[in-house]
Amino acid sequence: MEDHDAAIAASTPVRAGRGDRRWTDVANVAELVEGEGRLVLGGRARNHPVALFLVGGTIYAVNAVCPHMGGPITCGRLRGHVVACPWHGWTFDVRTGFADHPDAHHLHAYDVRIEDGRVLVAVRPRALRMIDPPDNAGDARTAT
Ligand code: FES
Repeated sequence: MEDHDAAIAASTPVRAGRGDRRWTDVANVAELVEGEGRLVLGGRARNHPVALFLVGGTIYAVNAVCPHMGGPITCGRLRGHVVACPWHGWTFDVRTGFADHPDAHHLHAYDVRIEDGRVLVAVRPRALRMIDPPDNAGDARTAT
């Protein structure tokens, strides 16, 4: 239970401004299309491929490279919050990065913020979540 609680605590979004080095400005909110992935560069070295998904007005960010054989996650078909890799069909929840099949590797998920119409992605990925995220944690809504 302690690991479970720690994972949830670690996934709590950090509040910070755009000048904070823990965040990378990666895209204009208006560029995102509901239900489609968009490839941006962000992450720890600010040049890591990150996939943004806009689902139900909320933006999610996960690693854009499939852990199976490197398929392009942004090109995957999205059903609800689950994206399927276009190469061999592995599926992942874009809210958490979790693969939804047994014995699979997961995607890193990143916290997202919106400031002045820009999408900011956390430099460091979140710890894997053990539960579905609450509505306001780890994602960013386009309509405020
Ligand atoms: S490369 Fe993504 S499922 Fe194989």
